[in-house]
Order: sequence, then structure tokens, then C-alpha cells
Amino acid sequence: MSERMTIHLDGRSIYDIVLETSFGNLGREAAHFVSGRKVCIVTDSNVAELYLNEVGNILASCCSRVVNFVFPAGEEYKNLDTVQKLYETLILEKFDRKDVLVALGGGVVGDLCGFAAATYLRGVSFLQIPTTLLSQVDSSIGGKTGVDFLAYKNMVGAFHMPKMVYSNMAVLQTLSEEQFSSGMGEVIKHGLIQNGDYYRWLEDCSGEIMERRLQTCEEMILSSDLIKQRVVEEDPKEQGVRALLNFGHTLGHAIEKEKQFAMLHGHCVGLGCLAAAYISHLRGNIPLEEVERLSRVLSRFGLPVTVSGLTPEQILQATKNDKKMDAGTVKFVLLERIGDAYVDRTVSEEEMRQGLSYILR
Ligand SMILES: NC(=O)c1ccc[n+]([C@@H]2O[C@H](COP(=O)([O-])OP(=O)(O)OC[C@H]3O[C@@H](n4cnc5c(N)ncnc54)[C@H](O)[C@@H]3O)[C@@H](O)[C@H]2O)c1
Repeated sequence: MSERMTIHLDGRSIYDIVLETSFGNLGREAAHFVSGRKVCIVTDSNVAELYLNEVGNILASCCSRVVNFVFPAGEEYKNLDTVQKLYETLILEKFDRKDVLVALGGGVVGDLCGFAAATYLRGVSFLQIPTTLLSQVDSSIGGKTGVDFLAYKNMVGAFHMPKMVYSNMAVLQTLSEEQFSSGMGEVIKHGLIQNGDYYRWLEDCSGEIMERRLQTCEEMILSSDLIKQRVVEEDPKEQGVRALLNFGHTLGHAIEKEKQFAMLHGHCVGLGCLAAAYISHLRGNIPLEEVERLSRVLSRFGLPVTVSGLTPEQILQATKNDKKMDAGTVKFVLLERIGDAYVDRTVSEEEMRQGLSYILR
């Protein structure tokens, strides 16, 4: 399969998302952006071992020179120290404004490389080659880039659009089960907030998806990317509808932080979705059976539905720290029904406590 969609902003086409099942067309696609230019492939230690040779050889055939920048895998390296090392490499290799960075990896690589591209020489071009499910359906699309600062996640960043996103879905075969299910947290979220039919399709196809049947995964990634595309085009700078993508993230982020990032992002998002669904039920929006069904769907995709070792107060406190970021109110996303979400600024601490009671053990 080969699919393509274009991200438009203000009526102008900004970049293409190319969905492929190999790196076979990468040279042809990338040549438009890298021909006659230097390329720095930014990747992490795990992805380098698996795909750097292949991707490096392809890009070498269509650009003037390839430089590699490999940093150790893991969220703890998504910081300014790594960015500084990358700047140093770019300066030593004499990268100028015309040259191009290529993010080869998951969300950590994409966020960090995109941030370096946004800031090096006040902005250079970059391409995304996402290699995790999470990055193929979420982080590579939409131009949000950034790094963590001290204990604060994604605290320093910029909006910077890639020139192209090239997703080779075959690379998902080497992803660990844990990482695959983390990506499913975001995929399920897409169905919950925007498309009830898609959510039900995911439920029906859970077996094939978990076996990572390429054809089913292709269909799923295409559907999720279409949802993300629509939301990003409508609200590129997250001033309105894009906030819906934060469904499950208010409490999910707080759990992630209080667990010192020992739990994967998508796993925490899944828990946050479940707690938010329970609050939506308490508001009379969805029946309890839908919350229980969501719990079963998350489990089917290998996502946790309970978390232990945390108190509600701890999580609420972490949420409040986030709260300061938005003029003193929590911007909570609730479900009107399955497939339809809205932003609500009136969710009380007591409601959050009740939501948490559904997932805390
Ligand atoms: N910019 C955005 O809009 C946005 C959205 C959501 C999440 N994020 C960010 O994304 C990051 C999480 O991304 P992630 O879940 O992709 O994590 P990740 O980038 O850390 O990748 C997860 C692990 O999988 C390995 N890996 C990557 N591709 C592989 C492959 N094909 N085969 C085997 N192993 C592979 C990586 O080396 C890493 O160890 C977080 O930092 C989060 O803040 C950003």
C-alpha cells in the first residue's frame, strides 16, 4: 500500500504524509527536499542499530552528504544537553540554512530533532521518518516540537512543521509489545474523541491489530492520521479544537509525572482516558457500560486499566501544577458521547477524585 495525505494550513499545502510499507520510495520522496544539500540523520541508539544503514544509504544517493547524530535511546535524553551536542555537530559539519535534518525514530527523536531544526540558524528544514506507532499516528504530525527541561516535560519547544513525514509501517514489526500498546493508547483516544465507528472497528479488529497484520495496521494508521490531520488543519497552534487531542492527558500526564516517567506515555494516556470517561459518565453523558467497555478495549490492547502506588491527592497536586499553565483553570476534555469530545473548564477536584477512584488501586 502507498497512501498520501497533505496537511493544509490557511488553504496552502504545507507538507505530505506518505504512508508506505518499505523504505523503497524514500529516495524519490526525499530527493525534492535534500537534493544538493547536506543531511543530518538524527536517531537514537536502538533505531540506529535497526534502520540507520538502510536509511543512510538511501539518503546518501540523493543528497550531497550524510552526517549521523546518534544519541542514547530514552526520554531522559530528550533534553537541552542532547540538543546542544546536536548543534555542535551541525556547526562542526558546517551545516547552513539550506541543509536538512532528518528525524529517524519515535516521538523522542522527532520532538528533539524538530526542536533543533526550529532553532538552529533560526530554523532549517526537517523531515520526519517516524518508527514507533505513537510517532506514526501522533507526534510526527502537527509540528509540535520540544524537549524536557529539568523535571518538566515538553517545557521548551516550538511549532515547526516538517517538510515531509515518511511512515514505513513495516518497521512496526520490530517494536516491543509495550511500545506498540503505548501507541494504541493514542489510537483509541482518536476514536473516542472523533469517530465512534472507528473506535468500534478497533474493538472488532483488536486480534489482527495485536498480531500486527500489516494490512489492518495500515488501515488503522491511515484512519488515525486522517483524524489528526483534520484537527491540526483546523487549529494548528492549539487554540481551539486541537485541545481535544488532550483527552486523557490531564490526569494521564500527572500519573506519568508522579510515576517519574517509569510508565510509558500511551499507557498513562489510556488510564487518563478511562478516568475522564468515568467523569463523563458521572456527568450523565455516557452510560457506565461504555466506561466498562472502554476498560475491556484498553486491556485487549495490552494497556493498563489500574495503577497502584499513587494517591489521588498526589495526582491532583500534579494536575494543579499543570493548571497554572492555563490561567488558573483545568482545561479538561470530556466525552459528550463515544466519538465526540468537548473541552470543559468546570471539572471539580471532587470529580477528578472520583475519576481517579476508577483507576487507582
Ligand atoms: N510532538 C507531539 O505532538 C507529541 C505527541 C505525543 C507524544 N510526543 C512525545 O513522544 C515521545 C514518546 O514517543 P515514543 O512513544 O515514540 O517513544 P520513543 O521515541 O522513546 O521510542 C520508544 C522506544 O522504541 C524504540 N524504537 C523506536 N522505533 C523502533 C522500532 N521500529 N523498532 C524497535 N524499537 C524502536 C526507541 O529506541 C525507544 O527505545 C514523548 O517524549 C512524548 O512527549 C510528542
